[in-house]
Amino acid sequence: MIKSLLRYVGRFKTASILTPVFTTLEVVMGVLIPYVTASIIDRGIMQGNMQNVYLYGGVMLVMAALSMTFGILSGKFSALASSGFAYNLRDAMFKHIQTFSFANIDKFSTAGLITRMTTDVSNLQSAFQMILRISVRAPLNLVFSIFMCVFINMKMSLIFIIAMVFLGTALYFIISKTMKLFTQVFSKYDDMNKSVQENISAIRVVKAFVREDYENKKFAKAANGLYKLFVSTEKLMAINHPVMQTVVYGCIIALSWFGAHFIVVGDLSTGQLTSLFTYVMTILNSLMMLSMIFVQMTMSAASGKRIAEVLDEQADVTNPAEPIEKVADGSIEFNNVSFAYGNSEYAIKDINLKIQSGETIGVIGGTGCGKSTLANLICRLYDVNKGEVKVGGLDVRQYDMTRLRDEVSMVLQNNVLFSGSILDNLRWGKSDATLDECREACRMAVADEFIDRMIDGYDTIIEQNGNNVSGGQKQRLCIARALLKHPKILILDDSTSACDTATDAKIRKAFREELPDTTKIIIAQRIQSVEDADRVIVMQSGRVVGFDTHERLLESCELYSDIYHTQKEGAGDFDEKKKGGAA
Ligand SMILES: Nc1ncnc2c1ncn2[C@@H]1O[C@H](COP(=O)(O)OP(=O)(O)OP(=O)(O)O)[C@@H](O)[C@H]1O
Ligand SMILES: [Mg+2]
Repeated sequence: MIKSLLRYVGRFKTASILTPVFTTLEVVMGVLIPYVTASIIDRGIMQGNMQNVYLYGGVMLVMAALSMTFGILSGKFSALASSGFAYNLRDAMFKHIQTFSFANIDKFSTAGLITRMTTDVSNLQSAFQMILRISVRAPLNLVFSIFMCVFINMKMSLIFIIAMVFLGTALYFIISKTMKLFTQVFSKYDDMNKSVQENISAIRVVKAFVREDYENKKFAKAANGLYKLFVSTEKLMAINHPVMQTVVYGCIIALSWFGAHFIVVGDLSTGQLTSLFTYVMTILNSLMMLSMIFVQMTMSAASGKRIAEVLDEQADVTNPAEPIEKVADGSIEFNNVSFAYGNSEYAIKDINLKIQSGETIGVIGGTGCGKSTLANLICRLYDVNKGEVKVGGLDVRQYDMTRLRDEVSMVLQNNVLFSGSILDNLRWGKSDATLDECREACRMAVADEFIDRMIDGYDTIIEQNGNNVSGGQKQRLCIARALLKHPKILILDDSTSACDTATDAKIRKAFREELPDTTKIIIAQRIQSVEDADRVIVMQSGRVVGFDTHERLLESCELYSDIYHTQKEGAGDFDEKKKGGAA
């Protein structure tokens, strides 16, 4: 995992290498300075030799300046490297997610992908910065300082060894306990993020159902779980400090005690004792840092794993080796097609259909019977599990995906508009569409009448999710956007459900008269929306139970004729009848 993630350091490799180099130089300076201090005391002050005080003082100043410069450089490069690493990761994830099929996205969930791209990458970014600087600095400081201590006085160094063993054991216990808690913190974070994302993106629904209290409680529960865990971990971490203090002061007392003895005997100078005091602080501090790095690494390992999962995910709908660029015509064929979402039961089963180019086909059936699923397979939003779907005489898997989706234009059931002007949104369908082309598409989709009434017309700004247009207006804009592609097959998945019957009829009339060569698949709940189609597919529980003209279906398909009569008499919709026993 680490190796695969490190690839994303990319062009920030130099900065990533320079950081530890400068950190090392900074550490070397930092470690040598106390040694020079000892010389100032021993060879200058104690001997009353001002020459030496100036000399070593000067050396110390130069070293301090160098240490500072190296420190600044290592800070600068580590910031550059870690931000760059995060940028590369996010960029790679975003681009990779663009290749995901609907099935890939279902696997992670939208909220999950957002958390991974934000929180998890930030975690990894700080871990990377820490690794580059502190994980170099702390061990180096530790080793150098121990070396210097041994160099100055072997016997006194025993004190450090004892202190280190004591501190090491204490830290080990604290850290192993905190790490256990931290792993839980992560899953709680996920829960809370999910709650926030769900609530914010569906805030309108929450308000409409007056579920604010319920949502508040749900969030409070998630946040409270996190709070409690953090308090427990912080409580544990708080023990670190007193333990450290005890050890430090214990060492200082021991140093003073033994140091005094050694000085009296002449084995140690006052200056050396002073620098030993500095080294003791450095050594114990480094140990503390090392333990922190350990915690941070554990935390970010979880994030790293979650990021790697996204980056390593294989898009399950991909272009073939030699993709075909041209879709011959708008004919569609389903041969023994079955499809299931993930490991669930088949959503559609054993479908056999032959649709000629230019036909208008209605699709009708109760909710959840598989209409959208059937349509999704035509433009390869999902791949079939069994059988084959053909467009223009060839298996959809043989085409270049972009070409296929340009020719098979689909208005999704839960379609969205993006923030930007109406024109921007329309040009999503075709980036170089002229204003006239856009007007033409809007006229066919019966969107022109409300756009012309808007003060800014085609420059009217659409808010995120199209919140400032009505449901029916949004649907018509989405249809216009799909029309701009001039596709060979146009699929409308329940795309006029929010339009009144007159508008719905106008749209169909425009299609019939102006798009005679385009195959039109119209999925609807209202029989009125499909009765003038050339043929109608009737679906029930994932199967096709009727496929014929309206008139013939009335005679041959019991389900269809029941629905027709029920809706004609104005008694509810498709589902109500189905429950009534018609199915
Ligand atoms: N992304 C998905 N993941 C898992 N199951 C799904 C997914 N989408 C649909 N399903 C399931 O597949 C079945 C068919 O759903 P589909 O959306 O095709 O129905 P539909 O006929 O379009 O219904 P509606 O009229 O309500 O739009 C349903 O049982 C549904 O729960
Ligand atoms: Mg549907």
